[in-house]
Amino acid sequence: MSRRIVVAGNWKMHMTAKEARAFVLQLSPFVLDVRSHVYLAPPFTSIPAAVQAAQASRICIGAQNVSAHSEGAYTGEVSSAMLKEAGARFVILGHSERRNLFKEDSETIRSKLQRAINFGLEPILCVGETEKERTDGRAEQVLEAQIDSACKDLQPEHGERMLIAYEPVWAIGSGKTATPDTVQTAHRLCRTFFEKKWGPEIADKISILYGGSVKPDNVAPLMREKDVDGALIGGASLRVDSFAQIIKNIEEN
Ligand code: PGA
Repeated sequence: MSRRIVVAGNWKMHMTAKEARAFVLQLSPFVLDVRSHVYLAPPFTSIPAAVQAAQASRICIGAQNVSAHSEGAYTGEVSSAMLKEAGARFVILGHSERRNLFKEDSETIRSKLQRAINFGLEPILCVGETEKERTDGRAEQVLEAQIDSACKDLQPEHGERMLIAYEPVWAIGSGKTATPDTVQTAHRLCRTFFEKKWGPEIADKISILYGGSVKPDNVAPLMREKDVDGALIGGASLRVDSFAQIIKNIEEN
């Protein structure tokens, strides 16, 4: 299997530039020989400091959001070109906090995804159902609709340049992790979607991460599932010790 294992930290609105720099320098010795790809997404203003601190390491720095537009009169927005120049290599898109708190709809997510790919940023597309959607038996339908609408305009060659993160909304920041079985079923569904869209060869190359209350002590059983290729971590990525321990536990599985 040629899939990359990716361990990504989503810092959300935490970590000033100074803090980001200190974190990266402290984490670097722990990731010298790891096989996993270690990603960190600081807030915009901390990206350059994190990139600089990560220069001698294998840590890859990215962003948590990007504008759907390439440039122009969009007060408060940051473009893909700006992120690229700041040293960002990937961008998290469609996170449930962006969808719910900032009302990003599927059209916006689709434009952002296309724009990011065009500018050479690797997108991590987040998808996930709410608790209600799951109890109503609509989880699979929701996941498929989210992926379908976000990836509608993409071509097969884009498949190799993107990652998916399955993040059930009810598991984010709640301490409730989805069971390995639930996660595998959702990941399989995502991969099957891409098999149908672009064929098995491309689908097999797309790393699918799990996110939602991942901690050092619950990551191992998740990683043993066939279609789980890493994790997207919020809360537990804010401390070097817990993030490094998650990486270590992933390496051992
Ligand atoms: P959490 O966040 O690990 O704190 O649940 C995950 C995420 O929002 O990506």
